[in-house]
Amino acid sequence: MLMKSVLLGAVGALALVASPAMAANCEVTHWWTSAGESAAVKVFADSFDALPGGDKWVDGAIGGSGDTARPIIIARVQGGNPPCATQFNPGHDSDELVAAGLMQDMTPLATKENWKALVRPPSQLEGCTKDGKVYCVPVNLHSAQWMWTNRKVFTDAGLPQPKNLDDLIADAPKLKAKGIMPLSAAQGWPITLLINDITVGVGGLDLYLKIYKDRDIAAATGPASQKVWKTLDAVRNMIDPKTLVPQWNDAVSLVITGKAAANIMGDWARGEFSVAKMVAGKDYDCLPGLGFAQILDTGGDVFFFPKNKDPAITAAQMKMASMMISKPVQVAFNLKKGSLPIRADVDLAAADDCMKKGLKILENPKNILPSNRQMMQADTINQIQDVQNTFFTDLKMTPDDAMKKIADILKNAPK
Ligand code: GAL
Repeated sequence: MLMKSVLLGAVGALALVASPAMAANCEVTHWWTSAGESAAVKVFADSFDALPGGDKWVDGAIGGSGDTARPIIIARVQGGNPPCATQFNPGHDSDELVAAGLMQDMTPLATKENWKALVRPPSQLEGCTKDGKVYCVPVNLHSAQWMWTNRKVFTDAGLPQPKNLDDLIADAPKLKAKGIMPLSAAQGWPITLLINDITVGVGGLDLYLKIYKDRDIAAATGPASQKVWKTLDAVRNMIDPKTLVPQWNDAVSLVITGKAAANIMGDWARGEFSVAKMVAGKDYDCLPGLGFAQILDTGGDVFFFPKNKDPAITAAQMKMASMMISKPVQVAFNLKKGSLPIRADVDLAAADDCMKKGLKILENPKNILPSNRQMMQADTINQIQDVQNTFFTDLKMTPDDAMKKIADILKNAPK
Protein backbone atom coordinates (compact mmCIF):
# COMPACT_ATOMS: atom_id res chain seq x y z
CA MET A 1 0.00 0.00 0.00
CA LEU A 2 2.77 2.53 1.02
CA MET A 3 4.30 2.29 -2.39
CA LYS A 4 1.17 2.20 -4.63
CA SER A 5 0.31 5.93 -4.43
CA VAL A 6 3.99 6.91 -4.30
CA LEU A 7 4.36 4.86 -7.49
CA LEU A 8 1.45 6.66 -9.17
CA GLY A 9 2.93 10.09 -8.35
CA ALA A 10 6.41 9.09 -9.49
CA VAL A 11 5.16 7.63 -12.77
CA GLY A 12 3.22 10.85 -13.27
CA ALA A 13 6.41 12.82 -12.63
CA LEU A 14 8.21 10.69 -15.20
CA ALA A 15 5.71 11.74 -17.84
CA LEU A 16 7.06 15.26 -17.48
CA VAL A 17 10.50 14.39 -18.86
CA ALA A 18 11.65 12.10 -21.64
CA SER A 19 11.91 8.61 -20.05
CA PRO A 20 15.66 7.92 -20.02
CA ALA A 21 17.13 4.57 -21.04
CA MET A 22 19.51 4.56 -18.08
CA ALA A 23 18.75 4.44 -14.34
CA ALA A 24 20.40 7.23 -12.34
CA ASN A 25 22.48 7.34 -9.15
CA CYS A 26 21.03 10.38 -7.46
CA GLU A 27 23.44 11.83 -4.90
CA VAL A 28 21.58 13.70 -2.16
CA THR A 29 23.42 16.14 0.08
CA HIS A 30 21.96 16.93 3.54
CA TRP A 31 23.11 17.40 7.12
CA TRP A 32 20.99 14.73 8.79
CA THR A 33 23.51 12.66 10.75
CA SER A 34 22.08 12.24 14.26
CA ALA A 35 20.36 8.98 15.25
CA GLY A 36 16.87 10.38 14.72
CA GLU A 37 17.80 12.22 11.52
CA SER A 38 19.42 9.08 10.06
CA ALA A 39 16.29 7.04 10.80
CA ALA A 40 14.18 9.66 9.03
CA VAL A 41 16.37 10.11 5.95
CA LYS A 42 16.36 6.34 5.52
CA VAL A 43 12.61 6.59 4.84
CA PHE A 44 13.35 8.85 1.86
CA ALA A 45 16.22 6.67 0.64
CA ASP A 46 14.31 3.38 0.89
CA SER A 47 11.16 4.87 -0.66
CA PHE A 48 13.16 6.23 -3.59
CA ASP A 49 15.11 3.01 -4.15
CA ALA A 50 11.83 1.06 -4.14
CA LEU A 51 10.44 3.03 -7.07
CA PRO A 52 10.50 1.36 -10.51
CA GLY A 53 13.23 2.31 -12.96
CA GLY A 54 16.24 1.34 -10.85
CA ASP A 55 17.29 4.87 -9.82
CA LYS A 56 19.34 4.82 -6.63
CA TRP A 57 19.60 7.22 -3.67
CA VAL A 58 23.29 7.93 -3.08
CA ASP A 59 23.60 9.39 0.40
CA GLY A 60 25.73 12.54 0.61
CA ALA A 61 25.35 13.27 4.35
CA ILE A 62 27.58 16.10 5.64
CA GLY A 63 28.32 16.11 9.40
CA GLY A 64 28.25 19.17 11.63
CA SER A 65 24.76 20.49 10.94
CA GLY A 66 23.61 23.17 8.51
CA ASP A 67 26.24 25.75 9.40
CA THR A 68 28.91 23.33 8.14
CA ALA A 69 26.94 21.80 5.25
CA ARG A 70 25.40 24.89 3.61
CA PRO A 71 28.65 26.55 2.41
CA ILE A 72 29.94 23.17 1.15
CA ILE A 73 26.76 22.55 -0.86
CA ILE A 74 26.64 26.11 -2.25
CA ALA A 75 30.31 25.86 -3.33
CA ARG A 76 29.68 22.53 -5.11
CA VAL A 77 26.72 23.91 -7.07
CA GLN A 78 28.55 27.13 -7.95
CA GLY A 79 31.68 25.08 -8.78
CA GLY A 80 29.88 22.95 -11.37
CA ASN A 81 29.98 19.74 -9.30
CA PRO A 82 26.37 19.76 -8.05
CA PRO A 83 24.68 16.87 -6.25
CA CYS A 84 21.48 15.51 -7.80
CA ALA A 85 19.41 16.86 -4.90
CA THR A 86 20.12 18.89 -1.80
CA GLN A 87 18.56 19.89 1.51
CA PHE A 88 18.28 23.54 2.49
CA ASN A 89 16.14 25.43 5.00
CA PRO A 90 13.24 27.61 3.92
CA GLY A 91 14.45 31.18 3.50
CA HIS A 92 17.47 32.74 1.82
CA ASP A 93 19.85 29.75 1.78
CA SER A 94 19.62 29.24 -1.99
CA ASP A 95 18.77 32.72 -3.30
CA GLU A 96 22.12 33.13 -5.11
CA LEU A 97 21.90 29.70 -6.75
CA VAL A 98 18.37 30.27 -8.03
CA ALA A 99 19.28 33.79 -9.23
CA ALA A 100 22.26 32.27 -11.07
CA GLY A 101 19.91 29.87 -12.88
CA LEU A 102 21.59 26.81 -11.33
CA MET A 103 18.44 25.15 -9.97
CA GLN A 104 15.82 23.08 -11.77
CA ASP A 105 12.46 24.76 -12.36
CA MET A 106 10.01 22.41 -10.60
CA THR A 107 6.93 24.34 -11.73
CA PRO A 108 5.60 21.72 -14.20
CA LEU A 109 5.64 19.02 -11.49
CA ALA A 110 4.32 21.38 -8.79
CA THR A 111 1.46 22.36 -11.10
CA LYS A 112 0.72 18.78 -12.15
CA GLU A 113 0.61 17.61 -8.52
CA ASN A 114 -1.09 20.81 -7.34
CA TRP A 115 1.42 21.50 -4.53
CA LYS A 116 -0.24 24.88 -4.03
CA ALA A 117 -3.37 23.14 -2.69
CA LEU A 118 -1.38 20.57 -0.69
CA VAL A 119 1.25 22.64 1.13
CA ARG A 120 0.42 24.29 4.45
CA PRO A 121 1.08 26.92 5.55
CA PRO A 122 1.22 28.47 2.08
CA SER A 123 4.36 30.42 3.17
CA GLN A 124 6.38 27.23 2.77
CA LEU A 125 5.68 26.93 -0.98
CA GLU A 126 5.90 30.71 -1.40
CA GLY A 127 9.42 30.43 0.04
CA CYS A 128 10.25 28.04 -2.83
CA THR A 129 8.71 30.34 -5.46
CA LYS A 130 10.65 33.10 -7.25
CA ASP A 131 9.08 35.17 -10.04
CA GLY A 132 6.16 32.73 -10.23
CA LYS A 133 8.36 29.64 -10.63
CA VAL A 134 8.74 26.86 -8.05
CA TYR A 135 12.34 25.80 -7.34
CA CYS A 136 12.08 23.45 -4.36
CA VAL A 137 9.85 20.92 -2.63
CA PRO A 138 9.09 21.56 1.05
CA VAL A 139 9.14 18.29 3.00
CA ASN A 140 8.23 19.24 6.58
CA LEU A 141 7.61 21.89 9.19
CA HIS A 142 10.11 22.14 12.01
CA SER A 143 9.73 24.56 14.91
CA ALA A 144 12.52 25.73 17.16
CA GLN A 145 10.44 26.78 20.18
CA TRP A 146 10.45 23.64 22.37
CA MET A 147 11.77 22.70 25.83
CA TRP A 148 12.36 18.97 26.37
CA THR A 149 12.44 17.50 29.88
CA ASN A 150 13.23 14.08 31.36
CA ARG A 151 10.26 13.32 33.61
CA LYS A 152 12.11 10.75 35.76
CA VAL A 153 14.81 13.30 36.67
CA PHE A 154 12.19 15.58 38.26
CA THR A 155 10.34 12.69 39.95
CA ASP A 156 13.60 11.33 41.42
CA ALA A 157 14.50 14.84 42.64
CA GLY A 158 11.12 15.12 44.37
CA LEU A 159 10.17 18.03 42.10
CA PRO A 160 6.92 18.58 40.19
CA GLN A 161 7.17 18.39 36.37
CA PRO A 162 8.06 21.94 35.20
CA LYS A 163 5.34 23.80 33.32
CA ASN A 164 7.76 26.33 31.81
CA LEU A 165 11.32 27.74 31.82
CA ASP A 166 10.68 29.80 34.97
CA ASP A 167 9.93 26.57 36.89
CA LEU A 168 13.21 25.11 35.63
CA ILE A 169 15.18 28.21 36.69
CA ALA A 170 13.58 27.92 40.17
CA ASP A 171 14.44 24.18 40.35
CA ALA A 172 18.05 24.68 39.21
CA PRO A 173 19.72 24.89 42.66
CA LYS A 174 18.04 21.64 43.82
CA LEU A 175 18.95 19.84 40.57
CA LYS A 176 22.56 21.05 40.73
CA ALA A 177 22.73 19.89 44.38
CA LYS A 178 21.86 16.40 43.09
CA GLY A 179 24.60 16.61 40.43
CA ILE A 180 22.08 17.09 37.61
CA MET A 181 22.63 19.77 34.93
CA PRO A 182 19.43 21.87 34.96
CA LEU A 183 19.77 22.71 31.26
CA SER A 184 22.09 21.11 28.71
CA ALA A 185 23.22 23.13 25.72
CA ALA A 186 25.42 22.91 22.64
CA GLN A 187 27.54 25.74 21.30
CA GLY A 188 27.01 27.58 18.00
CA TRP A 189 23.54 27.86 16.42
CA PRO A 190 21.87 26.01 19.35
CA ILE A 191 22.73 29.02 21.56
CA THR A 192 21.06 31.32 19.01
CA LEU A 193 18.02 29.05 18.99
CA LEU A 194 17.88 29.13 22.81
CA ILE A 195 18.15 32.94 22.92
CA ASN A 196 15.53 33.39 20.17
CA ASP A 197 13.14 31.02 21.96
CA ILE A 198 13.51 32.93 25.24
CA THR A 199 13.08 36.26 23.42
CA VAL A 200 9.74 35.03 22.00
CA GLY A 201 8.72 33.27 25.22
CA VAL A 202 9.52 36.15 27.61
CA GLY A 203 9.24 39.15 25.25
CA GLY A 204 6.34 37.92 23.13
CA LEU A 205 5.80 37.49 19.38
CA ASP A 206 5.42 41.23 18.66
CA LEU A 207 8.72 42.14 20.30
CA TYR A 208 10.51 39.33 18.43
CA LEU A 209 9.16 40.48 15.07
CA LYS A 210 9.92 44.13 15.88
CA ILE A 211 13.56 43.23 16.56
CA TYR A 212 14.37 40.66 13.86
CA LYS A 213 11.86 41.50 11.10
CA ASP A 214 11.33 45.26 11.48
CA ARG A 215 14.87 45.93 12.88
CA ASP A 216 13.27 48.29 15.41
CA ILE A 217 16.33 49.35 17.42
CA ALA A 218 14.28 51.07 20.13
CA ALA A 219 12.48 47.76 20.70
CA ALA A 220 15.78 45.83 20.54
CA THR A 221 17.19 47.91 23.42
CA GLY A 222 13.99 48.94 25.25
CA PRO A 223 12.55 47.78 28.63
CA ALA A 224 10.90 44.62 27.19
CA SER A 225 14.24 43.57 25.67
CA GLN A 226 16.07 44.35 28.91
CA LYS A 227 13.63 41.96 30.68
CA VAL A 228 14.46 39.25 28.12
CA TRP A 229 18.20 39.73 28.70
CA LYS A 230 17.63 39.52 32.47
CA THR A 231 16.14 36.05 31.95
CA LEU A 232 19.00 35.18 29.59
CA ASP A 233 21.44 36.16 32.34
CA ALA A 234 19.62 33.78 34.76
CA VAL A 235 19.72 31.02 32.13
CA ARG A 236 23.43 31.40 31.42
CA ASN A 237 24.09 31.21 35.16
CA MET A 238 22.23 27.88 35.13
CA ILE A 239 24.67 26.53 32.53
CA ASP A 240 28.34 25.97 33.39
CA PRO A 241 30.17 26.99 30.14
CA LYS A 242 32.42 23.93 30.61
CA THR A 243 29.33 21.72 30.06
CA LEU A 244 28.54 23.16 26.60
CA VAL A 245 28.74 20.23 24.13
CA PRO A 246 29.73 20.28 20.39
CA GLN A 247 26.49 19.13 18.70
CA TRP A 248 22.75 19.68 19.38
CA ASN A 249 22.08 15.94 19.62
CA ASP A 250 24.82 15.56 22.26
CA ALA A 251 22.86 18.01 24.42
CA VAL A 252 19.59 16.13 23.83
CA SER A 253 21.20 12.84 24.75
CA LEU A 254 22.25 14.33 28.11
CA VAL A 255 18.51 14.70 28.81
CA ILE A 256 17.74 11.21 27.43
CA THR A 257 20.37 9.69 29.76
CA GLY A 258 19.17 11.73 32.74
CA LYS A 259 22.45 13.64 33.18
CA ALA A 260 20.53 16.83 32.39
CA ALA A 261 16.96 17.73 33.33
CA ALA A 262 16.06 19.77 30.24
CA ASN A 263 17.16 21.06 26.84
CA ILE A 264 15.83 23.80 24.57
CA MET A 265 15.84 22.65 20.93
CA GLY A 266 13.79 22.37 17.76
CA ASP A 267 11.38 19.48 17.39
CA TRP A 268 13.99 17.54 15.46
CA ALA A 269 14.97 16.53 19.04
CA ARG A 270 11.83 14.36 19.11
CA GLY A 271 13.54 12.04 16.59
CA GLU A 272 16.25 11.34 19.18
CA PHE A 273 13.71 10.48 21.92
CA SER A 274 11.87 8.09 19.61
CA VAL A 275 15.13 6.30 18.61
CA ALA A 276 15.75 5.98 22.40
CA LYS A 277 12.27 4.42 22.60
CA MET A 278 11.10 7.13 25.04
CA VAL A 279 7.39 8.02 25.03
CA ALA A 280 6.14 11.62 24.97
CA GLY A 281 4.12 12.51 28.08
CA LYS A 282 5.39 9.39 29.90
CA ASP A 283 9.22 9.38 29.77
CA TYR A 284 9.75 12.92 28.53
CA ASP A 285 7.79 16.13 28.11
CA CYS A 286 7.84 18.66 25.29
CA LEU A 287 6.84 22.24 26.15
CA PRO A 288 6.03 24.34 23.07
CA GLY A 289 7.02 28.00 23.47
CA LEU A 290 9.04 26.88 26.53
CA GLY A 291 5.69 26.62 28.33
CA PHE A 292 5.13 30.37 28.04
CA ALA A 293 3.33 31.22 24.79
CA GLN A 294 1.90 28.69 22.31
CA ILE A 295 4.01 30.06 19.46
CA LEU A 296 5.93 28.07 16.84
CA ASP A 297 7.97 29.07 13.82
CA THR A 298 7.75 27.71 10.29
CA GLY A 299 11.24 26.40 9.88
CA GLY A 300 11.89 23.01 8.37
CA ASP A 301 13.47 21.59 5.26
CA VAL A 302 13.15 21.91 1.52
CA PHE A 303 14.91 20.06 -1.31
CA PHE A 304 16.38 21.71 -4.38
CA PHE A 305 17.49 19.93 -7.57
CA PRO A 306 20.51 21.47 -9.34
CA LYS A 307 20.40 21.70 -13.10
CA ASN A 308 22.42 19.04 -14.98
CA LYS A 309 22.91 17.82 -18.54
CA ASP A 310 21.86 14.19 -17.91
CA PRO A 311 18.19 13.40 -18.70
CA ALA A 312 18.40 10.34 -16.43
CA ILE A 313 19.32 12.58 -13.50
CA THR A 314 16.58 15.08 -14.37
CA ALA A 315 14.01 12.27 -14.50
CA ALA A 316 15.24 10.94 -11.16
CA GLN A 317 14.98 14.44 -9.64
CA MET A 318 11.30 14.73 -10.61
CA LYS A 319 10.57 11.24 -9.23
CA MET A 320 12.34 12.11 -5.98
CA ALA A 321 10.47 15.37 -5.47
CA SER A 322 7.17 13.63 -6.13
CA MET A 323 8.07 10.83 -3.69
CA MET A 324 9.12 13.25 -0.91
CA ILE A 325 5.77 15.10 -0.90
CA SER A 326 3.63 11.99 -1.41
CA LYS A 327 1.13 11.16 1.35
CA PRO A 328 2.57 7.87 2.75
CA VAL A 329 6.15 9.12 2.66
CA GLN A 330 5.12 12.37 4.36
CA VAL A 331 3.65 10.36 7.26
CA ALA A 332 6.49 7.84 7.58
CA PHE A 333 9.26 10.45 7.26
CA ASN A 334 7.79 13.05 9.64
CA LEU A 335 6.92 10.53 12.36
CA LYS A 336 10.62 9.63 12.50
CA LYS A 337 11.96 13.14 11.93
CA GLY A 338 9.99 14.83 14.71
CA SER A 339 8.60 17.40 12.30
CA LEU A 340 5.07 18.03 11.06
CA PRO A 341 3.99 16.97 7.56
CA ILE A 342 3.91 19.74 4.98
CA ARG A 343 0.47 18.64 3.77
CA ALA A 344 -2.73 18.68 5.83
CA ASP A 345 -4.47 15.77 4.08
CA VAL A 346 -2.43 12.99 5.69
CA ASP A 347 -3.59 10.46 8.26
CA LEU A 348 -1.81 11.25 11.52
CA ALA A 349 -3.39 8.59 13.70
CA ALA A 350 0.14 7.64 14.77
CA ALA A 351 0.98 11.19 15.89
CA ASP A 352 2.32 11.37 19.47
CA ASP A 353 1.59 14.00 22.16
CA CYS A 354 4.21 16.44 20.91
CA MET A 355 3.11 16.23 17.28
CA LYS A 356 -0.52 16.74 18.36
CA LYS A 357 0.50 19.84 20.37
CA GLY A 358 2.37 21.24 17.37
CA LEU A 359 -0.51 20.60 14.97
CA LYS A 360 -2.97 22.29 17.36
CA ILE A 361 -0.82 25.41 17.66
CA LEU A 362 -0.33 25.66 13.89
CA GLU A 363 -4.08 25.66 13.32
CA ASN A 364 -4.12 29.33 14.42
CA PRO A 365 -2.04 31.58 12.09
CA LYS A 366 -1.65 34.05 15.00
CA ASN A 367 0.59 31.48 16.73
CA ILE A 368 3.02 31.26 13.82
CA LEU A 369 6.21 33.22 13.23
CA PRO A 370 8.75 33.03 10.41
CA SER A 371 12.07 31.28 11.16
CA ASN A 372 15.13 33.50 11.58
CA ARG A 373 16.43 32.19 8.23
CA GLN A 374 13.26 33.53 6.61
CA MET A 375 13.83 36.99 8.19
CA MET A 376 17.61 37.54 7.98
CA GLN A 377 20.53 36.88 5.64
CA ALA A 378 23.05 34.19 6.69
CA ASP A 379 25.77 36.78 7.37
CA THR A 380 23.58 38.73 9.80
CA ILE A 381 22.61 35.51 11.59
CA ASN A 382 26.29 34.52 11.91
CA GLN A 383 27.36 37.91 13.32
CA ILE A 384 24.57 37.82 15.93
CA GLN A 385 25.40 34.18 16.71
CA ASP A 386 29.00 35.13 17.57
CA VAL A 387 27.82 37.74 20.11
CA GLN A 388 25.27 35.34 21.58
CA ASN A 389 27.86 32.55 22.01
CA THR A 390 30.32 34.95 23.64
CA PHE A 391 27.57 36.00 26.06
CA PHE A 392 27.16 32.36 27.12
CA THR A 393 30.85 31.55 27.42
CA ASP A 394 32.28 34.86 28.74
CA LEU A 395 30.38 35.93 31.87
CA LYS A 396 32.20 39.29 31.77
CA MET A 397 29.97 40.32 28.84
CA THR A 398 26.99 42.00 30.48
CA PRO A 399 23.41 41.51 29.21
CA ASP A 400 23.42 45.21 28.28
CA ASP A 401 26.63 44.83 26.22
CA ALA A 402 25.21 41.85 24.32
CA MET A 403 21.86 43.54 23.73
CA LYS A 404 23.54 46.68 22.35
CA LYS A 405 26.01 44.75 20.17
CA ILE A 406 23.12 42.85 18.55
CA ALA A 407 21.16 46.07 18.02
CA ASP A 408 24.20 47.54 16.21
CA ILE A 409 24.41 44.51 13.91
CA LEU A 410 20.68 44.72 13.11
CA LYS A 411 20.93 48.46 12.46
CA ASN A 412 23.39 47.86 9.60
CA ALA A 413 22.03 44.51 8.36
CA PRO A 414 20.52 44.09 4.86
CA LYS A 415 16.78 43.28 4.94
C1 GAL B 1 17.88 22.13 10.78
C2 GAL B 1 17.02 21.21 9.96
C3 GAL B 1 16.42 20.13 10.78
C4 GAL B 1 17.36 19.53 11.79
C5 GAL B 1 18.36 20.50 12.36
C6 GAL B 1 19.50 19.88 13.12
O1 GAL B 1 18.49 23.06 9.94
O2 GAL B 1 15.97 21.98 9.41
O3 GAL B 1 15.86 19.19 9.92
O4 GAL B 1 17.74 18.34 11.45
O5 GAL B 1 18.89 21.36 11.41
O6 GAL B 1 20.42 19.30 12.32
